Amino acid sequence: MTILVTGGAGFIGGNFVLDWLAQSDEKVINLDKLTYAGNLDSLRSLDGDARHVFVHADIGDREKVEALLAEHQPRAILNFAAESHVDRSIHGPGEFIQTNIVGTFNLLEATRAYWGGLEGEAKAAFRFLHVSTDEVYGSLEPQAPAFTEQHRYEPNSPYSASKAASDHLVRAYHHTYGLPVLTTNCSNNYGPYHFPEKLIPLVIHNALAGKPLPIYGDGQQIRDWLYVKDHCSAIRRVLESGTLGETYNVGGWNEKANLDVVHTLCAILDELQPRSDAQSYKTQITFVKDRPGHDKRYAIDASKLERELGWKPAETFETGIRKTVQWYLANQDWVQNVTSGNYRNWVEKQYA
Ligand code: NAD
Ligand code: DAU
Repeated sequence: MTILVTGGAGFIGGNFVLDWLAQSDEKVINLDKLTYAGNLDSLRSLDGDARHVFVHADIGDREKVEALLAEHQPRAILNFAAESHVDRSIHGPGEFIQTNIVGTFNLLEATRAYWGGLEGEAKAAFRFLHVSTDEVYGSLEPQAPAFTEQHRYEPNSPYSASKAASDHLVRAYHHTYGLPVLTTNCSNNYGPYHFPEKLIPLVIHNALAGKPLPIYGDGQQIRDWLYVKDHCSAIRRVLESGTLGETYNVGGWNEKANLDVVHTLCAILDELQPRSDAQSYKTQITFVKDRPGHDKRYAIDASKLERELGWKPAETFETGIRKTVQWYLANQDWVQNVTSGNYRNWVEKQYA
């Protein structure tokens, strides 16, 4: 048995591949374009492991994807591949349209052709799981109830609009062609191998480097935070037992204002790796210009996933964030490789 994971050299996809192979011997075909966000360093522990096959490819390359599906005959496709950074989508939305919308469309077409050719048990058991985000629901007022799966789509950034479009395509392929799809909409992840341009890894990196800790606007924007390994376990659960055509919200029941998250990070760093001048890392906090169109609040109601599939996060924010800081302190080589750009040199050499 084999699964095909797209975007498995990224933050969540990489954690998913590592967790999957730690729990199962089922082979993983890992298809990734290795954009700036794809980093094979995160998968070094799988070097020489025959259960992991890395393929350098674009989800939008339909011929290549069709050939891979024919060769490996996966029983499931999990689509993590995306352009994922809101700020980058504001500076340049083009790649987001290309990968998140056109790429997902091509992947769906290749999948439809492959699934159409399957028969009997293989056809009945096949799944296409699309990994999406809570950002498709838009922004909540302070007292509004958390997003349920029934909340209307109201994406506000080019990133979230492109993810919303991909969710709609996935839904349409189920409704029109009967493709056996599942969609998950998750809140903000954090944990190991998180690219240090997103809030939590950026703050840890900048704090240790003695640089400013940039807070957009007043820092009162609220996100719901989920430890990445809990997201991985939710995806496994939905893949195993989710109802076809359904969407499942995934969240950590951890609503936090950005400024509080940064204060927590500073406090943990003050304890685990105090500054040489004994001052708190909080003194590095710097308020900067706000993100255009910045969503004020996200909150996820993940009760459907708990009620129907029995999934709950294992980590609280307090346990998960401490593990995360400890991981970054113990893996400064990985961080240096990313921030120095060395991992890109290797990609260019390897795939020239
Ligand atoms: P990431 O940016 O860290 O990784 C994305 C991966 O996809 C990279 O390895 C990149 O090389 C690859 N990729 C990009 N374009 C590709 C293409 N055209 N073909 C093949 N591979 C391509 O992203 P992430 O944070 O790991 O997010 C993974 C998925 O989860 C995304 O779909 C994202 O929308 C969703 N999501 C992320 C979060 C979060 O907090 N990070 C929360 C909810 C949902
Ligand atoms: O909600 C799920 C989404 O979470 C995912 O779909 C996205 O792929 C993922 O990147 C993340 O999006 P955010 O925009 O919420 O994540 P980011 O880490 O960029 O920012 C978190 C919050 O922190 C947000 O309110 C913006 C703020 N921020 C971010 C950075 C990078 C700052 O205040 N300063 C910063 O330097």
